[in-house]
Amino acid sequence: MAVHPGLLHFGRNDGDVRVYDFRIEAADKATMYRDLASALEGLVAGETDAVANMANAAALIWETLPDLNWAGFYRNVSGDSGPELVLGPFQGRPACVRIPFGQGVCGAAAATLQVQRIDDVHAFPGHIACDSASNSELVVPILRDGQLIAVLDLDSPKKARFTEEDAAGCVRLAEIVAPVV
Ligand code: SME
Repeated sequence: MAVHPGLLHFGRNDGDVRVYDFRIEAADKATMYRDLASALEGLVAGETDAVANMANAAALIWETLPDLNWAGFYRNVSGDSGPELVLGPFQGRPACVRIPFGQGVCGAAAATLQVQRIDDVHAFPGHIACDSASNSELVVPILRDGQLIAVLDLDSPKKARFTEEDAAGCVRLAEIVAPVV
């Protein structure tokens, strides 16, 4: 278990019960994403349960990044009925459960395997409005061995909330969780 000084504080350590207290107060966005990535690595280290890792990742991102109204995962559960994303662990308001590939911002990320960074979701054809408060969105595909596992979806009430730096930072977060979700 890696310990990240200043990021991971063990409030309690009884046997294998670990309680985390993250405090990420970075002066700039680059430092914030570096600290967030380090904290996420520590949070998922040694844990193989996908739901637990997605839940903790969503909570950590939600607690750390400002100006979000939704943060979480849609999983690729494509089966006999065709390609489909299904809601996974998240923070924010209850959201639509199933999204076909190619529909909305998440579906576009799943179909193209490309990051979708949308300054104004209302101008995005087919945007799925789960929360009317959302104005901008960032969706990052999570790939393992070239296969789509899930997408990381962040929504903001602020227009143009997500910069190239946010996209790069979240691509790094997606790389960290890819082996353990
Ligand atoms: N707005 C998304 C749907 C998911 S919610 O934002 C949580 C989309 O267009 O794919």
